[in-house]
Amino acid sequence: MPNIAFINGKWSPVSSAKISIEDRGFQFGDGVYEVIRTYGKNLFSLNEHLARLQVSAKALEIEMPYPMEMLEKIVLLGCKKSHHKDTLIYIQLTRGVAPRGHAFPKKNRSTLVMTFRPNKPLSDAMRNEGVSVISTEDIRWARCYVKSLNLLPNVMAREAAKRVGAFESLFVRDGKVMEGAGSNVFAVHGQKVTTPPAGTYILSGITREIVLKIGRENGLKMCEADLSLDDFYAADELFLTGTTVEVLPVVRLNDKWTPSKKPGEVTRGLYEAFHKYIGT
Ligand code: PDD
Repeated sequence: MPNIAFINGKWSPVSSAKISIEDRGFQFGDGVYEVIRTYGKNLFSLNEHLARLQVSAKALEIEMPYPMEMLEKIVLLGCKKSHHKDTLIYIQLTRGVAPRGHAFPKKNRSTLVMTFRPNKPLSDAMRNEGVSVISTEDIRWARCYVKSLNLLPNVMAREAAKRVGAFESLFVRDGKVMEGAGSNVFAVHGQKVTTPPAGTYILSGITREIVLKIGRENGLKMCEADLSLDDFYAADELFLTGTTVEVLPVVRLNDKWTPSKKPGEVTRGLYEAFHKYIGT
């Protein structure tokens, strides 16, 4: 099945899709993005993702090249054209092509790229046995709610995790755990489930919001509060959330294991409730 790309109105295979070397996304990382997936034919939280794209673009004063309804249509058409069972869609929006110069160009047209590839599920072993994470200093800027193309701190953090056989790095800023390099994070203490508060220092994940909601509906005490690394070490269970990881158990943080060294009941319950919520 083809991996296809949409670039400013033109469709092509991903392998031959091209943008200019003068695109500001390439020159400066001057752009924003979204990652969306389907479950079969159903798009997961499309409107929420497009709304967040709009928030990110507005924060950087990047013009949206199409109205929302049109973006929605392009996403749906791409999914139809690519025929994957579960599709992973990347939307990248940049300030467009212009001769190099840091300040905004006077006249430019934003570049909109979308790619449609198969979504590769995580292994059963990761889901059943849980993953390891490490902590790393949060060297990102102060507008982490913007899903910016500038991902160097995230790239370095993920590489650091990979080098020690861990799945994810958790960013720690001023002694507080913020989120993963590509996921949000939760700590479970008894029946209390806490995640760092939304604000400018984390990307407020769409999966995170859903998990907060379904946790409450399932009688758990869901909280948004600052947590230190020690609070994380003292947790009964830990888990990550995100579009691709869904609800993923964490059994080890740095050199410390969770008490049972196995995915816990609260995490498992939330994973099941999440799938019930999305109808899979
Ligand atoms: N990452 N925090 C960060 C820094 C992220 O990059 C992501 C998503 C999340 C979770 O957000 P959501 O639940 O809306 O997917 C939190 C995507 C999947 C990525 O960059 O590939």
